[in-house]
Amino acid sequence: MRIGIHGAGSIGCFVGGRLAAAGLPVVLVGRERLQREIGNHGLTVSDFGERLVLPAGAVRYATDPRALAECDAVLVCVKSAQTAEVAAELAGILRPDAVVASFQNGVRNPETLRAALGSRPVVASIVDFNVVSQGEGVFHRGTDGGLKLERVAGADALAPTLRRAGLEVLELDAIAPHQWTKLLINLNNAVVALTDEPTPRLLQDPTLRRVVAALIDEAVGVLRAAGIPTAPLRGLPVSVMPKILRLPTPLVRLVTRRQMKVDPEARSSMWEDLQRGRPTEIDYLNGEILRVAEAHGASAPVNARLVAAVRDAEAAGGGSPGTSPVALARALGV
Ligand SMILES: NC(=O)c1ccc[n+]([C@@H]2O[C@H](COP(=O)([O-])OP(=O)(O)OC[C@H]3O[C@@H](n4cnc5c(N)ncnc54)[C@H](OP(=O)(O)O)[C@@H]3O)[C@@H](O)[C@H]2O)c1
Repeated sequence: MRIGIHGAGSIGCFVGGRLAAAGLPVVLVGRERLQREIGNHGLTVSDFGERLVLPAGAVRYATDPRALAECDAVLVCVKSAQTAEVAAELAGILRPDAVVASFQNGVRNPETLRAALGSRPVVASIVDFNVVSQGEGVFHRGTDGGLKLERVAGADALAPTLRRAGLEVLELDAIAPHQWTKLLINLNNAVVALTDEPTPRLLQDPTLRRVVAALIDEAVGVLRAAGIPTAPLRGLPVSVMPKILRLPTPLVRLVTRRQMKVDPEARSSMWEDLQRGRPTEIDYLNGEILRVAEAHGASAPVNARLVAAVRDAEAAGGGSPGTSPVALARALGV
């Protein structure tokens, strides 16, 4: 399979780099800034166990989406706000049988792609690991975790191709409950973005745990009111998560010691968006809970206050406001 990546930033360069390192034909499409960076330094993908270095010139990084015309599959890796724009571009470029996969957070991106792409198979996917761009062409996976792909007719070759690049892939007939569970986990991205605290602190600091528990608890209630099913997380119903987070720290450590490996300095991609002065995906994460609540006569005041705080931070510019955990808890009314 010739794979294309549309929106090659952190996730796209990591996945594209792994495919290229496995000798598979891949073309990355994205911004001139990264084209220059990778042109100068090559592309390095690293994680806990491996560091794969592709020298400058070894990976094709284009800025014109027409470079994707001959691809058998394209992985869409832009942030959710850009999905409609790239879907329209792809509709005019891709072959009628090309497979398109959404490698994005949020629950609506596959729907947006399907609306623009006619009969082409569109694969909803979940990226269960975190990648940060470290500069000089280095993209580092700071957690373990793999990919979940929806099983879609006409797209059978995609999962085996990704496995050839050493990525762990689980195929699912019904992916929507897993997308909602992932969205519940991603409610904490904004907490990292606003406090400037590394992700592991969310489990270590009792005030941050209380904030995250309140966000998830509220969202679980909204999804329940709307009749939206969620998938279990590591064998447990998601409604148990806030209960665990409210336990005393030594007990939380005990219960979560077999949870995912996370780099001590890992932060969310929403934090990275604030640092770079870009709009965040808040409307597609916590904002999605507000939309569901409104549609079903429920309310989500804690998530609503968090959405407002992130909008303020976006408008202010200047990166993460570095709100203290106590100040954030107070501002959210938790
Ligand atoms: N990073 C993670 O750890 C992680 C983990 C799980 C899931 N996700 C999800 O994966 C998706 C991608 O995240 P990411 O962190 O990889 O984002 P990212 O680093 O911002 O990468 C997206 C890239 O696409 C570029 N882009 C936007 N519009 C484009 C267009 N029309 N044509 C070409 N390039 C375009 C962006 O440039 P500009 O910045 O100039 O717009 C950016 O360089 C998001 O939905 C995110 O929530 C991320």
